[in-house]
This record gives sequence, structure tokens and C-alpha cells, in this order.
Amino acid sequence: MLEGKKILLGISGSIAAYKTAALTRLFVKAGAEVKVILTPSAQSFITPLTLSTLSKNPVYTSFTEGDMGEWVNHVELGLWADYFVIAPLSASTLSKMASGNSDNLLLATYLSARCPVIVAPAMDLDMFAHPATQNNLKTISSFGNLIIAPNSGELASGLIGTGRMAEPEEIVDFVLNQIQLGKPFIGKKVLITAGPTYEAIDPVRFIGNHSSGKMGFALAKVMANWGAEVFLISGPTELKLQHHLINTIYVKSAEDMYQEVMNTYQMADILIMAAAVADYTPIEVSDQKLKKNDDELKIELVRTKDILKELGSLKSKHQLLVGFALETNDEQANAMKKLKEKNLDFIVLNSLKNKNAGFGFDTNQIQIIDRGGEITSFDVKLKQDVALDIANKIKQILHV
Ligand code: CTP
Repeated sequence: MLEGKKILLGISGSIAAYKTAALTRLFVKAGAEVKVILTPSAQSFITPLTLSTLSKNPVYTSFTEGDMGEWVNHVELGLWADYFVIAPLSASTLSKMASGNSDNLLLATYLSARCPVIVAPAMDLDMFAHPATQNNLKTISSFGNLIIAPNSGELASGLIGTGRMAEPEEIVDFVLNQIQLGKPFIGKKVLITAGPTYEAIDPVRFIGNHSSGKMGFALAKVMANWGAEVFLISGPTELKLQHHLINTIYVKSAEDMYQEVMNTYQMADILIMAAAVADYTPIEVSDQKLKKNDDELKIELVRTKDILKELGSLKSKHQLLVGFALETNDEQANAMKKLKEKNLDFIVLNSLKNKNAGFGFDTNQIQIIDRGGEITSFDVKLKQDVALDIANKIKQILHV
């Protein structure tokens, strides 16, 4: 099951560390090679001797080892691993990971690791629920780290709530699932547009829209997690993604987005246009702030370039093109018309019928319509799960 896989197990200071003896044994039993790093406080909960005996490898506890004070190469450890599993993840280690602190071997290895990082938090219920902890989890998740949610139950404090580390069997299953999910898009390059565009009226005003960029960013994350190299061209948004396979380019206007897409599209195998690009832009942009007076103000607008349509006419046979549509009436017929006119492989139709779907929400409800006219309808889901449905459709078409 895990034959040939190298698992680096990082253990931080939590009572749940006692479960890592069982976890190490399960990994080894499943065929993995296991190396273990303990933080200084983890050693109060479990001994290096227990873990070195079970893992059949030396256990690392500090930057230097042995009588001669030999240096432990954290970069090598980070590069050795296929998966870095940090279990239990304490609130303190989590906060240091989120802020880039490297004051022990586990943290320095975390900063050097290029492999997927999987964490299993363990802490008291109030610590887990605290906004600081939740923010830190969001931060490391934005780095591409995968979080195994803690269970609910009785905690070491005697309190009952969420914070119990996932059981060793659940952690092993999670790693196995990751391996089975695989990386179908390895070697593929993906261009994704996201967010709104801002069309300047004068130096302080613009015409924009409520797109948050969440859908495009979620897609970028899924595609990168599945091995693709992603070029994410985004309009103005607060969102950020840190992932070694994602290159983000921020733009403002539809014209800027057009230029960046034109610079990049030829090298891409997959093109996903999720941005809410302005269809019109002011003909003239005033150099000075426009002053009000008693007259009506008329701003003349001109059509922007339709990036998606242009890609449809330029795309080569090996490129797969995906567009989005937001319709309020004759939804499927309008989306199908766009699919044909813009020469798309499939179109993602956003519904405005569900009040929790669309602009600004964390959830979305879509239908996917492909060239063959096949329509697949999905439930309202978190945008990260909608992104998985879209990525699966691409996988199916490309037979990867
Ligand atoms: N799009 C684009 N460039 C534009 C406008 C839109 O690339 N200048 C892309 C969007 O990223 C999206 C799709 O085209 O993938 C939306 O198509 P569009 O025809 O603009 O649909 P709507 O915005 O819904 O507009 P309308 O219904 O008014 O035609």
C-alpha cells in the first residue's frame, strides 16, 4: 500500500503524541520508510527511543546530533520525504508554521520541504476554536498544506469538544487517499483567469464588479495540487496563494488581463477563463479627478476585447478551453450558444437561482455543458469542491 513511499513524521508537543507510536507502526506495516522528527516539547510526551525502535531509523530532535555535535541537514530531510506528516500539530507549532518561524528542526524542515505536507491538529477545544488558530489553519492551507480535521470527543482537559487528533488509522487512510488521488496533471500547464477587472474612469474611480476571485483561486489550487503548473492571472482581489506550482500575476483592467493572457496562452495545455471581465470600459480616462457640477455626467463606454472568444479562435487542437457563463434567463440555451460561438470544450454555467451561489459567496452551484451537449448538474457546494468537479471533468476529457 505504501511500499516505496518515504514518510517524514513530525511530532509536536501535545498529549496526542502518545498515539504516534501506533501511527509509526501502521506506516511501517503498510510498507513505508519512516523517519521521525520531534520538537523539544514533544520529547516530554514520547521518547525518541520508542520511535527509533518502531521506525527502525534514527530519530531527529535538534539541529545537532551525537557527541561531535554533527549537523542534521534539514534540507536533505525535507527533500528526502514523499510526504511530511505533522501529527500531532500543536497550536504553537501551527502558529510558527504560519509565520515562518524556524526555531527548531521540525520547523526548519517544514520550510525546506517540497513534498505535500499533511497536518493533524490536536489541542483543547477552545484553543482549536480560537480565531487565531483558525486563521493560522487558513494560512497554512493557503500554502497548499492539507489538514486532517480533528475529531470531537473527550479531551485531555476533561472537556468535551473538537480538538482530538484524528486516529492513527484515519491519518494513514488520508495519506493513502492522497497517493491514490495522484497527480493527473503532472507536466501540464494551466492558464486561469480570476476575479473582477477595474476599468478606470479617472485616477480615483473605476467601474468594477463584485467578483471575489474565489472560484478561480480554488481552481488554481486544485490544479496545482494535482500536479499542474499554474499561471493565475487575477484582477484586483485580497486573495493570495502560495504554492510552488502557482505563478500569480495581478492585473487591473480588462486590457491588462488580455495582454497577460496573450503573453501566456501559447504554452498552456488547459485554459480556464473564470474571471468576470468587464464587457465595457470608458473611452477616455481622465488624467485629473473629475469635478462634480450641476450637469448630468455621461461616460461613454466602448467594448473590451473578449478574451475567451479570442482564445477560442486561436486555440490549437491540443489545448482545452473552458469558459464560464452567468445567466438569468434561458440559462442552458444561452450557455450552449456561448459554448459554440466561443469554440469551448465545455462551459460552466453559474446559477443565480440559489441565494448562496455566485459572486462573493464561499459556495457555488454549477452545471457543466460540454461540446457533445451533455449537461451535468451539481449541488450547492464549497467553491473548493466545485473546483474539484471542474478539474474532474477536465481529467475525464483528457483521459489522464
Ligand atoms: N470573458 C472574457 N473576456 C471578456 C468577457 C468575458 O474572457 N471581455 C469570459 C469570462 O471569463 C467568462 C465568459 O467569458 O469565462 C463569460 O462570457 P460572456 O459572454 O462575457 O458572458 P457574460 O459575462 O455572462 O455576458 P453576456 O451574457 O452579457 O454576454
